[in-house]
Amino acid sequence: MEKYEIKSEVCVYQDSELSADDRELIESAKKATQSSYSPYSKFKVGAALRLQNGEIVTGSNQENASYPLGLCAERTAIFHAQHMHPDLPVQAIAIAAWANGHFYPEPISPCGACRQVMLEVEDRYQHPMRVLLYGAGGTHVVQTVKDLLPFQFVSSSLEK
Ligand code: THU
Repeated sequence: MEKYEIKSEVCVYQDSELSADDRELIESAKKATQSSYSPYSKFKVGAALRLQNGEIVTGSNQENASYPLGLCAERTAIFHAQHMHPDLPVQAIAIAAWANGHFYPEPISPCGACRQVMLEVEDRYQHPMRVLLYGAGGTHVVQTVKDLLPFQFVSSSLEK
């Protein structure tokens, strides 16, 4: 039997330790929560992407009476950004959530489907995407989606 470990690195930053760009991205994700359409879960999620040219593109979760049809904030933002700017790598994504009248205190970690879509963005542009998960006690940051989704299935997996 052979055994190996896959390690991920997560850094937790207080607001004052973040760069101005990252603070702006987190504020954009927080603001995006307010455009969420989430009458069923009442859980408002906002995502903000920083593109290579510095532009910020946001999205929020969009639900449906036919529950499985809803889309998470991360994928709403990513698909919109790739439609608007198909040639621009995504440098970072920030995610925040709002529920019961306040920002959710714990960092919201993207669902498995969103992680796979985020991975495709890194793979497509061959550019790491930093992930910033806002929480009241600190923003949890990974330098690449690979830290959230080890053992990846990407385009090259289809070529072997
Ligand atoms: N949701 C997101 O938009 N992003 C996440 O990272 C986690 C979950 C949404 C999906 C659904 O509209 C609501 O939050 C509750 O699951």
